[in-house]
Amino acid sequence: MDTDTAEQLEGQIESHDLKLKELFATDPGRAAKMTVSAAGWTLDYSKNLLDTQTLTLLLKLAEKANLKTEIENMFTGKHINQTENRAVLHTALRSSKTTGLIVDGQDVYADVHTVLNKMYAFATRIRTGEWLGYTGKRIKYVVNIGIGGSDLGPAMAYQALLPYSKRTLKCFFVSNVDATHIAETLLQVKADQTLFIIASKTFTTQETMTNAQTARAWLVSKLGEAAVAKHFVAVSTNASKVAEFGINPDNMFVFWDWVGGRYSLPSAIGLSLVLAIGPRNFKRFLSGYEAMDKHFRTAPFKRNMPVLMALIGILYSNGYGADTYAVLPYDQYLVRFPAYLQQLDMESNGKSVTRDGQPVEYMTGPIVWGEPGTNGQHAFYQLIHQGTRLIPADFIGFCKSHNPIGDHHAKLMANFFAQTEALAFGKTADQCRAEGTPETLIPFKTFVGNHPTNTLLANELTPKTLGALIALYEHKVFTQGIIWNIFSFDQWGVELGKVLAGKILKELNNTSLPLHHDSSTNALIMRYRAAQQIVD
Ligand code: F6P
Repeated sequence: MDTDTAEQLEGQIESHDLKLKELFATDPGRAAKMTVSAAGWTLDYSKNLLDTQTLTLLLKLAEKANLKTEIENMFTGKHINQTENRAVLHTALRSSKTTGLIVDGQDVYADVHTVLNKMYAFATRIRTGEWLGYTGKRIKYVVNIGIGGSDLGPAMAYQALLPYSKRTLKCFFVSNVDATHIAETLLQVKADQTLFIIASKTFTTQETMTNAQTARAWLVSKLGEAAVAKHFVAVSTNASKVAEFGINPDNMFVFWDWVGGRYSLPSAIGLSLVLAIGPRNFKRFLSGYEAMDKHFRTAPFKRNMPVLMALIGILYSNGYGADTYAVLPYDQYLVRFPAYLQQLDMESNGKSVTRDGQPVEYMTGPIVWGEPGTNGQHAFYQLIHQGTRLIPADFIGFCKSHNPIGDHHAKLMANFFAQTEALAFGKTADQCRAEGTPETLIPFKTFVGNHPTNTLLANELTPKTLGALIALYEHKVFTQGIIWNIFSFDQWGVELGKVLAGKILKELNNTSLPLHHDSSTNALIMRYRAAQQIVD
């Protein structure tokens, strides 16, 4: 990050001490000026601690980081994932172009559309009953077995787009290596009507392969070995491992090393979603992504939604020292959206080394968390309103509901609008007094306000608006990574734990192996080993 500009930003924040109440009072046109629309979404960012000078400095950070060039580098397939020497081309997955982007000798668009067409054909066969299970029954259950990017995206989007799904086809998502996850799922499905999708970019991930083997053994115990071909398909970049597992290569849906796991939902990793919502809706989903991609690539930064959200995030992380931001979707269908964003943001920008391999001297990726409104209001909003920490929040809402029952939606949205107003403007001691609040209670009933929020509003949660929303956050995360001068597309931080778990697994399975860990880890393993000997 350009440290001179960052220092100027800090100075600006200290000297100006912005108050939302004053900013709104002095400029009646503030909301109109600070609202942008793109790809079916409107972002009102006026309730942020921003004035013209602050925004100018933030935009300078983007320019100093050569953001424009870096965006082009990503879209055109340069190897910007340098530590893995890979292009980063998830934007190609949702391009309507069918040919013409040659990267590393491959026509990326053509490859993408070949796989999409294979997915659509397969989904149609399942959905129409042309593809039957081994005993001749229709597929009624789909179990996606994957973890991280091979789980969170499809699980989130399936939940989000339930109103568009074929309700006679129920999808389950198994990720945890805890046997409870697969065991409880298998209790809810029937072997002869279940399709398992083994989703793993590498096809080596411990959790996924363990669950896949358990599912396979379960199916074979019910229907016999010959049934596997009709009940197992794979999504992966690793054809040889898929063949080794015993899945027919015809039933494998490929993607490529230039698709990061957490960016892979619009690739074959979205197969369960295509099965659920059908090819037509999946195409609409991709078109939403594409609309936001185009906006990100072409809009001037001061009207560019992902760039503005990224800069606002940097303002709070680096200027105000905020550790976290909350994502608060006012839509029950988006219940998994915060969890999805956790991987997208925290696995991408949870880095402390610059692209030159030096320790960073500023804060990078924030902690992301959240819950759907209004549930959060009765749990953690107290701390946002009256606690000691600054917690910027994104409020995400829709004008129309898929379940227009009574006045539920009006009540939901009344809360949605009320919260950002309350957070921004608070309630003064005088207002409390005017309501007759006893003097002793005034400190407790006062709200200082000035808590910043973004409001993201769309007409309705549709495949298209969901695609655009995901792309918005992807590009926000990308922009921040560029400004922080970190690599957003690797995830070396997950490796150490995996290696140690492999070593410890051997020690748990073979109790005669000596332990050479620290005294804490040794003692904990010994305790576990001892408990295995105890019979109740
Ligand atoms: O947790 C690390 C990670 O590599 C993620 O980045 C990825 O999404 C997940 O594991 C699953 O990987 P795979 O799709 O190869 O099974």
